[in-house]
Amino acid sequence: MKSELYSTYAKQYDSVITDNIYNAHLDRPTLLSMLGSVSGLNVMDLGCGPGVYSQYLLESDASKITCVDYSDEMVELVKEKFGGRVSTYQQDLSLGLPKEKSASVDVMICPLVLHYLEDLSLFFNEVSRVLKPKGYIVFSTHHPFADFECSKSGNYFERELVEEEWNTVGTPVPIRFYRRSLMEITDAITSSGLVISQLSEGKVSDKVKELDEDVYERLSRNPNFIFMKCSKLGD
Ligand SMILES: C[S@@+](CC[C@H](N)C(=O)[O-])C[C@H]1O[C@@H](n2cnc3c(N)ncnc32)[C@H](O)[C@@H]1O
Repeated sequence: MKSELYSTYAKQYDSVITDNIYNAHLDRPTLLSMLGSVSGLNVMDLGCGPGVYSQYLLESDASKITCVDYSDEMVELVKEKFGGRVSTYQQDLSLGLPKEKSASVDVMICPLVLHYLEDLSLFFNEVSRVLKPKGYIVFSTHHPFADFECSKSGNYFERELVEEEWNTVGTPVPIRFYRRSLMEITDAITSSGLVISQLSEGKVSDKVKELDEDVYERLSRNPNFIFMKCSKLGD
């Protein structure tokens, strides 16, 4: 789903997430703790944004890194930062990964993107097609229990388009995302043939205590994001 936050404000978003609470001190440490070594592997960064994870993949000696994002501005930022060291192109993930060959990629990451996709079955079918046997994806997304607070219908099991304004970059920017049940996520994964091999509800870094005690208290007691590692079975 296109959003001004990731196009008009792409550069501001890049500088904010370098050291903010939700990305730098909750999402990244949790997701990276589930990733494992990518040294020598062919890795895709799905919904790469400004490439903060791609930088980690480069430093971790992945042999090939492919970054895709819906936003042209994010794709340009990643190209400016890493040039030919990564392969980068614009792709709407709600249309799958039509440029990628089947059984060609070892590892995929998809941090904080799935809530912008309406059809997770199509997405995970494509992930399953493109992963090599024994390959895996690690993703994070909004925790379904946390997002239920935004429900207008009051029906947890009904997918809903939520419209909000976020102050992420210091000015209110309209944002739209899908709120859905945990079962909708896990059904899409398992029906694609992938197996959930690890699940986390995130652990906020201790450093947040010094940055904002109230937010630390809230994130220590309430789920905010959910993280899963999903593997493709080998032969
Ligand atoms: C919250 S940002 C996360 C960026 C990066 N994964 C990270 O964690 O640093 C979400 C990203 O998903 C991208 N995105 C949203 N909808 C998308 C879609 N349909 N296809 C591809 N990328 C999408 C946005 O452009 C944005 O860069």
